[in-house]
Amino acid sequence: MKEAVEAVSNADKIVVLTGAGMSVESGVAPFRGDDGLWNEYDPQEMASITAFERNSERCWELFKLQIKECFEADPHEGHKALVDLENFGLNSIITQNIDALHQEAGSTEVLEIHGTLDELVCPSCGRSEETEERYEEILDGEIPRCECGSIMRPNVVLFGEPLPEGVMKKARERTENCDLMMSIGTSAVVQPAASIPLMAKRSGAEVLEINIESTSLTDNITDYFLQGKAGEVLKEIRDALRE
Ligand code: APR
Ligand code: ZN
Repeated sequence: MKEAVEAVSNADKIVVLTGAGMSVESGVAPFRGDDGLWNEYDPQEMASITAFERNSERCWELFKLQIKECFEADPHEGHKALVDLENFGLNSIITQNIDALHQEAGSTEVLEIHGTLDELVCPSCGRSEETEERYEEILDGEIPRCECGSIMRPNVVLFGEPLPEGVMKKARERTENCDLMMSIGTSAVVQPAASIPLMAKRSGAEVLEINIESTSLTDNITDYFLQGKAGEVLKEIRDALRE
């Protein structure tokens, strides 16, 4: 932990990559591991673009569950610690999470490379609206339709879809110019997000990983591995920096 805190304190440009493990302590289920969502729902059947085009109603069973869970979740100590780390050189959070908890905690720059549940879009006419506006209806099990009549969808990246180009461009630029990459709560299996820590390493950055268990990054590119819960470890790092 001591060397890791040193690395954070010496870094001028820190970029963070977060995954579902960052939100577990806020009550949001991860996708993989013991209580992962993909143990119950088949992502190809429920969270892919082909599944949505074939059977939007079925996909809305999962969207509803995710929207309810994320709307009921609050940022935890770890999200707040990342806001405090902005005083120690953190300049960007690249997140795979769609729960908007980093923004809710007050982080300044959050690059949502897998989109967000906070917004609904119409696949036919492109109209978008705040999920908040349709929250009660969604909770009542209704499927939100656009004024044009089409079934709307959350503005998330479904399997089989490209990532938002503008956001990815900014994320690549931040990654290539950082001197410390903190990978937090991601299984690092889904591309292209999983390559971000490697991209940082190749650009000369050190990699600090926080996870409750090791991942494919740990033995290959991680310089500092802190095994533990994101909220607890981040709070410890922030408190040590304040000393
Ligand atoms: N603190 C830190 N890490 C944790 C915690 C915790 N409290 N709880 C779980 N983890 C770790 C797990 O060990 C695992 O490595 O978080 C990771 C969660 O992995 P996934 O569920 O695969 O989430 P993620 O890596 O974000 O998945 C990437 O896959 O299904 C797609 O689009 C989805 O964005 C998601 C992407
Ligand atoms: Zn429409």
